[in-house]
Amino acid sequence: MKKFFPMTLMAVTALFAAVTMAETQTLRGADVAIADQAPVERTQLGGKPGAQKGIARTFEQQPPLIPHMTANFDEVTLEENQCLSCHDVTRYKEKNAPKIGVSHMKDSSGKVQKTVSSARWNCNTCHIPQTDAPPLVDNTFKSVPFKLAPVKAR
Ligand code: HEC
Ligand code: HEC
Repeated sequence: MKKFFPMTLMAVTALFAAVTMAETQTLRGADVAIADQAPVERTQLGGKPGAQKGIARTFEQQPPLIPHMTANFDEVTLEENQCLSCHDVTRYKEKNAPKIGVSHMKDSSGKVQKTVSSARWNCNTCHIPQTDAPPLVDNTFKSVPFKLAPVKAR
């Protein structure tokens, strides 16, 4: 009788695990052990820079989404950064583009430098272009109301 309880518990646990495993579904629709498929090529939304409105931010400190297409001018190498050819503090006026935030010019101690911080060099780690990809799962996300800080402070 003493052994009966642990064995029943084990049986119930095993049954529960089997049911849960059978019901587990991954977002990519394939078993975890299966190698990733090549991503589907998607059409970028947005036209040439200069023709779009900015996309509303949904939370404070959100890196703004890129409203324009980036194909053909998104090259970022050690020497070159095509995004900065329009968004850099020295170029934005003539290109009529939004200027990068002051935060992008700060070094690790918070001092504002003349050039973009190397921590911000890879623009696409934070700013992402738009595609026609459908959401993987339905969600009910709603933006919290907030007031965008004045540009100078950012
Ligand atoms: C030819 C000039 C040009 C280039 C190159 C360019 N942009 Fe832009 N960008 C613009 C303009 C102009 C806007 C204003 C919206 C519009 O008209 O599309 C803009 C808007 C943005 C915004 C939205 C800013 C906000 O406050 O809403 C982000 C973020 C951005 N660009 C990032 C990038 C990144 C990252 C790259 C490189 C992959 C890039 N841009 C390359 C001109 C450019
Ligand atoms: C580590 C993340 C990160 C990287 C990398 C980054 N940004 Fe940003 N960016 C942000 C955030 C967060 C904001 C909004 C707050 C702010 O202005 O700092 C922003 C704001 C901006 C804005 C709008 C500024 C404003 O005042 O409305 C532009 C334009 C921009 N970034 C362009 C760029 C470009 C071009 C690069 C590459 C040289 C880049 N960013 C790299 C996070 C990043």
